[in-house]
Amino acid sequence: MGRQPVVEVRMRVNGVMESLDLEPRVSLLDALRERLGLTGTKKGCNQGACGACTVLADGERINSCLALAVQYDGREITTIEGLGGGEGAHPLQSAFVRNDGFQCGYCTSGQICSAIGMLAEHGAGAPSAATEHLSADTIELSDAEIRERMSGNLCRCGAYNGIVGAIREVAAAVPGEVGRDAMEPVTEPAMETAMETVR
Ligand code: FES
Ligand code: FES
Repeated sequence: MGRQPVVEVRMRVNGVMESLDLEPRVSLLDALRERLGLTGTKKGCNQGACGACTVLADGERINSCLALAVQYDGREITTIEGLGGGEGAHPLQSAFVRNDGFQCGYCTSGQICSAIGMLAEHGAGAPSAATEHLSADTIELSDAEIRERMSGNLCRCGAYNGIVGAIREVAAAVPGEVGRDAMEPVTEPAMETAMETVR
């Protein structure tokens, strides 16, 4: 296939306005990794099956390998590099370390971005296939709920127990906070007070 005409795509990535001239066929994943050098987002299957490429688009988790960059013109993209607004580790990143939520680390950035999006979905009351009582006012974030909601993110190393533990810990420590705005660090006093209960 010959070169296609380029189009200008403007996105705010991790709080920085970026302007890229891209062929319309370029995926968001390739734009992030190859053009912006944000290699924290990983390419696993490149066909929507593993979740390694998960990023947040306006706070919602997406598989960036399945997204064309031109679709996200004018949107806000957050990758693993932008979590917490660059002010130290995001609570989920710290929790993954404490809980041994990774081994080789290849899936980890996708797992963490996906968990942030998942917690926002749960906080907004979205049910999952594991939700038993659809009419309940609040859906308990049980381990079964976490596993179901994270089932799009595979881990070849099998670090699932640690991944679930990390998400459970942070969800319990700061309920409703973590998925609210990934670029905004959870306030230190709120996090410190909350973490005292799980140390
Ligand atoms: S690389 Fe995108 S889902 Fe696997
Ligand atoms: S930590 Fe190796 S693939 Fe998940």
